Amino acid sequence: MTTSLSTGSPSGSPSLRWRLEELDLDAIDRAAVAARDDIFLLVCSASFIESGTDLYTRNLLEFFDADAEFGAWLREHWEPEELQHGRALRAYVEHVWPDFDWPAAYGDFFAEYSALCTLDELEPTRGQELVARCIVEMGTTTYYQALNAICDEPVLRQLSWNIRTDEVQHYKNFYRRFLEYRRSEGLGRSQVIAALWRRVAELRRSDADVALRHVSAWRWRDSPEPPALRDVRQGLFERMRTEYPIELAVRMIIKPLQLGPRLQRWAERPLSLLARHVLLN
Ligand SMILES: [Fe+2]
Ligand SMILES: [Fe+2]
Repeated sequence: MTTSLSTGSPSGSPSLRWRLEELDLDAIDRAAVAARDDIFLLVCSASFIESGTDLYTRNLLEFFDADAEFGAWLREHWEPEELQHGRALRAYVEHVWPDFDWPAAYGDFFAEYSALCTLDELEPTRGQELVARCIVEMGTTTYYQALNAICDEPVLRQLSWNIRTDEVQHYKNFYRRFLEYRRSEGLGRSQVIAALWRRVAELRRSDADVALRHVSAWRWRDSPEPPALRDVRQGLFERMRTEYPIELAVRMIIKPLQLGPRLQRWAERPLSLLARHVLLN
């Protein structure tokens, strides 16, 4: 099992839309960001989850083993891009907060996270798993967009926007694949809704929470009075919700329902209220 603990090595993928090596880490305005615990926690948590992508890739490759073309995209595009997100965010953390022991903290996170990433976590059918993947990519797109809006450090603004652009492309590719499987599996709307609901409900717990717990534990490990995780989580949530692009989230969540323009217009408001309730309360 690889743990993606190595960093700094350029990815072998020729298809990357941007490269970590192009990011000017020396241009970081440390004074603008070093004291921001909220930015540290958000960037570092994201670096952990992105760096663990190889676990997911293995599970997805196994689940879609009969689909060579999709497997090639996962291996040659999706995984190198996600791992580059992890390396770039790690590089940012280590540049701005050099005292934070990223490898040790990531090691603790990975020990717990790797036990959670199993094939049992996947949806019953491939089409439904692709719906779940769309929701995950919606979650990352909106996360990096909100992060981009709350930070005013120029290098992080560029990095978060680069990553956000990749996540939108991932969403689009998973969505295109979903349309094919929906047809071949004869998926009904109720099965799509079930997969959507399971995954949206999951967004508020799971991966991000595991990452934040380990990042917080290491951030305040020498502190005599570390803040309660509950308060840390709530503080971040309040900060992010002010800039969270809820309309974009709703559009990305309901797209797999293929409602048609009239039904979509009718449903958008109640669904938006529901999404607000689930995601922002
Ligand atoms: Fe990513
Ligand atoms: Fe992604």
